[in-house]
Amino acid sequence: MFKIAILVSGTGSNMLNIIESFQGKSAEILTVFADRPCKALEKAQDIYNIPTKLLNKKDLSNLEIANKVHEECVKLKVDLIVLAGFLSIIGGKILEDFENKIINIHPSLLPKYGGPGMYGMNVHNQVIKNQENTSGCTVHFVTKDVDQGKIILQKQVKVEKNDTGETLQKRILIQEHIAIIEAINILIKQHEDERV
Ligand code: GRF
Repeated sequence: MFKIAILVSGTGSNMLNIIESFQGKSAEILTVFADRPCKALEKAQDIYNIPTKLLNKKDLSNLEIANKVHEECVKLKVDLIVLAGFLSIIGGKILEDFENKIINIHPSLLPKYGGPGMYGMNVHNQVIKNQENTSGCTVHFVTKDVDQGKIILQKQVKVEKNDTGETLQKRILIQEHIAIIEAINILIKQHEDERV
């Protein structure tokens, strides 16, 4: 079975969607890591009984967090690490050992509105401010350059005249839930094809 680890920092709607879509079906969600106490961590634990680990950014540097995730994912022989609303920046050896095995969901059409500081409402407010006609979301591989790894897929969302950052965020989040599942399905298929 295809083995997944999920990293979270927030509410965890993408995480929940991944668990609901794959757990016990075409993949196994082995573990959930968080870099801060958050709803997502509680839900993984309480609703789904998935082993969780809090790697608190208050006590650990980004590199220490990445190294601990690395160590655990090697031990568990994880096939894919999914950053589902994870706010710390991943670096170090994990990027080499899990090359093309770490993906992130970002709430804009990268390369637009990506990079350090471009997360959450910052992205959507900037899109509104610049009067873009279209925004959306991107699933991409994680590399040392924030939000610049190879794109797996994108979903477009029309920006309406009366949109605020909040209304746009809501519509994009619906597309994120679809995009992340499609991307993981692509990677599961690739993994199966490589094993034949
Ligand atoms: C999403 O907008 C995702 O694109 C971004 O963080 C948000 C996480 O939402 N990276 P949720 O925690 O999955 O609900």
